[in-house]
Amino acid sequence: MRKKGMILILLAAFVIGLTGCRKNDQQDDVFIADDTADLGEGDIGDSAGSDQEETAETPPAEEEEAQAETPPANVEMSEVSAPDADTDVYEIVLGVGSDETQAIVKWYGTNTDAGTVYVAKAAEMGGNTFPTTAQTVNSTVTSADYQSYMVNAATITGLEADTEYCYMVGSGNGWSSLRSFRTGKPGQVDIIVTGDIQLGTGDNDGENVAAWNRIVQDTVAKFPDYNMHLNMGDVTTMAFEDHYVNSINNRLFSDYVTGVVYGNHDAAGDLWNKHFSQPNQSDFAQRDGKANGNFWFKYNGVLFMELNYAIEDLDILVDHKYFIEQTIAANPDCKWRVVLMHYSPFSSVAKYQDYSNQNREYWLQVFEEYDIDVVLNGHDHAYTRSYMIQGGQAQKTDAASVTNPEGILYVTFSSASGSQYHDINPTEYAAKTLQTYTPHISTVNFTENSFQLTVYDANSWEVLDSFEIIKE
Ligand SMILES: [Fe+2]
Repeated sequence: MRKKGMILILLAAFVIGLTGCRKNDQQDDVFIADDTADLGEGDIGDSAGSDQEETAETPPAEEEEAQAETPPANVEMSEVSAPDADTDVYEIVLGVGSDETQAIVKWYGTNTDAGTVYVAKAAEMGGNTFPTTAQTVNSTVTSADYQSYMVNAATITGLEADTEYCYMVGSGNGWSSLRSFRTGKPGQVDIIVTGDIQLGTGDNDGENVAAWNRIVQDTVAKFPDYNMHLNMGDVTTMAFEDHYVNSINNRLFSDYVTGVVYGNHDAAGDLWNKHFSQPNQSDFAQRDGKANGNFWFKYNGVLFMELNYAIEDLDILVDHKYFIEQTIAANPDCKWRVVLMHYSPFSSVAKYQDYSNQNREYWLQVFEEYDIDVVLNGHDHAYTRSYMIQGGQAQKTDAASVTNPEGILYVTFSSASGSQYHDINPTEYAAKTLQTYTPHISTVNFTENSFQLTVYDANSWEVLDSFEIIKE
C-alpha cells in the first residue's frame, strides 16, 4: 500500500515537470524545526536551504552538461520518479565508501522502518524517472537522538568508473528531489577540498551562513565533473544540529562522494558520526565512546587514511601508527598514500604551535616509516603549504613542481566559509603561508603519476597557490 501511494505521488510530480539531476540545481528548501533550547544562537529558518541570493561573481561552469529529459529508446522506465522538492528528507550526505565502487549515503527522516535509495546512471534516466534497472538499497535506521528524526544509512555498490549517476532517497513519509554525482575516470580522482566551515561561531552567524551558501553554489557550478569532496574537520562550532543543517544541507555534501575528518569542534557533540561515513572503521583511536575511530578508503589507486587526531591525548598516538601499518599492509597496491587529520604538525598559527611542535617528531617518524606522500590538515583557519619535509628538514625550493621527491608534503587548508580566521606566524617549514581574510576553496587532482594542488580565493576565484608532485 505504501509503495503504491508513493508511486502515485511521484507520478504526479513527474507530470508537473522534469528537472533532471544537474548539479547546479537550486537546493530545495528543507529545514529541521527548532524546538529545543540548546540549539544555540541563530534562527534555523535562515539556514542553508533558504532562498539564496544571486551572486554577480558566480564562476562559469567548466562544462555544460546536456540534460536528458526523454527516456533512452532502449531503456525501460519504471513508475518511480523523483519529486521536484524534498519531503521528510534532511541533510543528505553522500559519504565515501570503501572504494570507488561504493558510496554510503546518510540522511535524516521521520521514518522508523527502512528507507530506500534509488540510483541509476544519468544516461538511463528519463528526466526524473528511474529506469527499471535502477539499483534500490534499503537503509538501516537508528535514532538521531534529535526530536523524532531517524538516521538512515545505506551503501550504494557496483558503481562504474567515469559515469554520472542520479539518485533519490526517502521513505513512505517522503522523498528527496534528484541528486547526482560523477565517478572518477580510471586511475584518477578530482577532489574539492574544504577547510573548517565551522558555522555558528556566534559572530556574524547570519552573514556567515549566507556567505557559505553562496560559496557552495559557486563551487558546485565551477566543478561539476569532480568526483569527491573532502572536508578537513570542524564542520560546526558547537556540534548543534541546526549548525550541521547550515553547513551540510547542500549539494556539496549530497552531489560528491564526501569524506569528513573529525575535528575538535565536531567532538563537542555526538552528531558527527550520524552524518558522515567511516568506511573500514578501525578499533584504533576510538574516542569518547562516540564510535568514532580512524577509517580508511581508497579511490582509483589513492589510499586515504583518516586519523581522529583532534584532542590532546598523547597516549593514543601509537594507535595511529598501528592503524597506518595495518591499513597499508591491507592495501599494498595503492600508488598514493594520503593522511587526513585535523591538526597539522606544521601549524602557522602561533597559539597552535606549541602543540604542533610537541608531536611533530612523532608524526614525521611515522609518516616517513610508512612512505606517506601527502598529509592534509585543517584547524588553522589559515593556509600553509610546507616544503617537502624529509628527516625533519625542509627541502627548500621555490619550484611549483617536484618530481620523485623523497619527502612528504603537508598542506593545511584555510576556512572554507570565512566564519573565522587566525593570523599567521610562519615557520621555517612553510613554503607558502596565506591569510587573505577571505574564504578558500581548493582542489586536488590525482592521476597515476601526478598530484596537483590548487587553492582558490572563494570570493574572486583567483588562484592563490598551486603545487604539483610528479612520480615518474
Ligand atoms: Fe579545529
